Amino acid sequence: MLVLGFESSCDETGVALYDTHQGLLAHALHSQVTMHAEFGGVVPELASRDHIQRALPLTEAVLKQAKKTLSEIDGIAYTQGPGLAGALLVGTSIAQSLAFALNVPSVGVHHLEGHLLAPLLEENPPQFPFVALLVSGGHSQLMRVDGIGLYQLLGDTLDDAAGEAFDKTAKLLGLGYPGGPALAKLASKGSAQFTLPRPMLTSRDLNFSFSGLKTAVLNLTNNNQPLTDATKADIAWEFQEAVTEILMEKSMAALRETGLDNLVVSGGVGANSRLRERLNAATKRRLCTVSYPRLEFCTDNGAMIAFAGAMRLSAMRLNADQLESNGEQQDYSVSVKPRWDLAELQAP
Ligand code: KG4
Ligand code: ZN
Repeated sequence: MLVLGFESSCDETGVALYDTHQGLLAHALHSQVTMHAEFGGVVPELASRDHIQRALPLTEAVLKQAKKTLSEIDGIAYTQGPGLAGALLVGTSIAQSLAFALNVPSVGVHHLEGHLLAPLLEENPPQFPFVALLVSGGHSQLMRVDGIGLYQLLGDTLDDAAGEAFDKTAKLLGLGYPGGPALAKLASKGSAQFTLPRPMLTSRDLNFSFSGLKTAVLNLTNNNQPLTDATKADIAWEFQEAVTEILMEKSMAALRETGLDNLVVSGGVGANSRLRERLNAATKRRLCTVSYPRLEFCTDNGAMIAFAGAMRLSAMRLNADQLESNGEQQDYSVSVKPRWDLAELQAP
């Protein structure tokens, strides 16, 4: 089954073609980072308008890359939520219009399900069940994953997400948007000169809290004026140490509590090399495995949506003809879910 996937939930337009027999055939991405950088964050209206400009040229690019035509597509997947309403509407409208025109089934994919399943796009994919650490700009969650749509939340952030903490701390240090990669780069030039707290490290649950850490960084910057580049690097180093230690310890606790021995990491913060270093060492010590998506699939992309959609569409064995013969109609309506709890998902 050949599935075309669209991602447009925030500031990246991603389109990809996934084939259930041959795997990922092509993917293309346009990042709006430079456009939003001058405003210090994502401007939703600009994001929506840019998605409109990019979606069809990217679609043509992936079809050309894969040497496929629209008529060969068997199904369409699109990010239906959560995300920015206007941005989601662009991908959803284009996907549903195409699915209607081609008379093929379509499926609205949960953006976080896309992230969660992204490591399965790699060679030697992890097997179910596993513990997932999902660390993105909007989420920091630990989940038990027993299969497609079988997600049990084990722990969540009580305030800021890990990526959000990276972004806000980067802002405090005068780094650009997006802050995560910039802060990680600066941290590589720092060393252990300061001490920051490790919030919730010893709490007996699997929850996180990162907003206190951001306040502690603010105090450090206030107490070390004028901030030299070297001081900023040392603060960045300690901040990264604190966040990655908490993420590593909680992930190990989740493996212990569930009795599982596979950890899967996804989301933008999963690209952080210090986090990978720590998780690699800790899982090795415990004789567990850890899997990550390739770096470009840690952050938003179309491949993860095409993949998650293909898993759902093929499992549902949906096709428009079959539906019609059952007297049902494929739903081509355009509706988005800017807020959508992952726990609402069910197995296809
Ligand atoms: O998954 P993602 O692309 O978008 C969301 O769905 O949120 O994640 C983006 C987040 C941003 O907060 C960004 O600063 C963070 O991931 N990020 C990183 C790194 N690369 C991206 N954080 C720390 N280290 C990195 N190398
Ligand atoms: Zn994302």
